[in-house]
Amino acid sequence: MGEPGVAQYWDAAEVTSLREGQGRTVEVNGRRLALFRIEGAFHAIDDACPHRGGSLGAGWVEGRQVFCPLHGWAFDPASGACSTRPDRPVRTYATKVEDGRVWIALGSD
Ligand code: FES
Repeated sequence: MGEPGVAQYWDAAEVTSLREGQGRTVEVNGRRLALFRIEGAFHAIDDACPHRGGSLGAGWVEGRQVFCPLHGWAFDPASGACSTRPDRPVRTYATKVEDGRVWIALGSD
């Protein structure tokens, strides 16, 4: 167990399970997150779209943006910024690659 307030990395997926420009939903420590591989880097955000809860892991990727499958809001998975509604960003999580797997950092909250 990690120390209080310190992010702990959780095993989320095999590196080879995501192709370039692809995303999917993963469940990490009981939390649903959307994981994307964009330009070789992995980005994790909350899976639930801040609009009405669409699954962003099921969205489509164009360039560096992911589009919600329900109503098409656009997000940058690297920063969490929403270009459709800048006042409704999505939460981001740090990732790392180790031992052929993608790890996602969750805080203690
Ligand atoms: S639920 Fe995502 S854009 Fe509406």
